[in-house]
Amino acid sequence: MAGEVALSQALAYARDLKCAYETARAREAELVQANDRLREAYQQSLQYAIDLKKTYGRLQRAIFQGLLGLANALEAKDQYTRGHSTRVGELSRRLALAMGVTPLAAETIAQAALLHDLGKIGVPEGILTKPGPLTPEEWEIMRRHPVTGAQIVAPLEFFDEGAIIVRHHHERLDGSGYPDGLRGTRIPLGARIVAVADVYDALTSERPYRASLPHAEAMRVMLQERERTLDGRALDALVAVLGSARRPRAASRPALNGDDHAVADRPL
Ligand SMILES: [Fe+2]
Repeated sequence: MAGEVALSQALAYARDLKCAYETARAREAELVQANDRLREAYQQSLQYAIDLKKTYGRLQRAIFQGLLGLANALEAKDQYTRGHSTRVGELSRRLALAMGVTPLAAETIAQAALLHDLGKIGVPEGILTKPGPLTPEEWEIMRRHPVTGAQIVAPLEFFDEGAIIVRHHHERLDGSGYPDGLRGTRIPLGARIVAVADVYDALTSERPYRASLPHAEAMRVMLQERERTLDGRALDALVAVLGSARRPRAASRPALNGDDHAVADRPL
């Protein structure tokens, strides 16, 4: 009798164990499925993140293109500055590459050069196109354009270095530039390069306040500024890139006076 009870109990335990085992197996299978679903969801969210990042990048590029269009439209309104940024962009790239800058960094410098004067959108047209000298008040407004330009491009995350170049493109080696009065190598290299390209293009272009200089004369003026206001290495690159490539045009204006570099420094 006692044996039958014991056997019956043992069978009941065995059934319970089997039941518990099957339940555990079922839970395990559910866990595996849940884990698979989680993994799929993770992969999907990863893909979403990648897609979002691509879309964000495309959006930022689109904004950049829009700003380029804005800069071009701003220049196109004035016959004297038409094409200036495109030329400064191309020359800056050539100078940067001649100085051994990596192609990627040269591209950033060229893009910053394309947008270097975007901040002039905040300068009244009457000041931008004024044929005579600017008053101190007008100069103060004009001198804000590098900061304004840097603020406009600041939201472009991929363009951090470009924004710095835009801000400092009117700094001078001796600290007499603006907006921060940086000296020497404290001025970012890209800004020193853009400054040389900017001054060269300004000197060799017609302006409402002066005639253009022939290439040789512009080079003479700029080389006098070597290590005073303009970077020596960037000037060497300018000579290497343009030195013998262009035949000097006939002089279209009388000899320079002491203020001519100041004229080139006028925000362009
Ligand atoms: Fe400028």
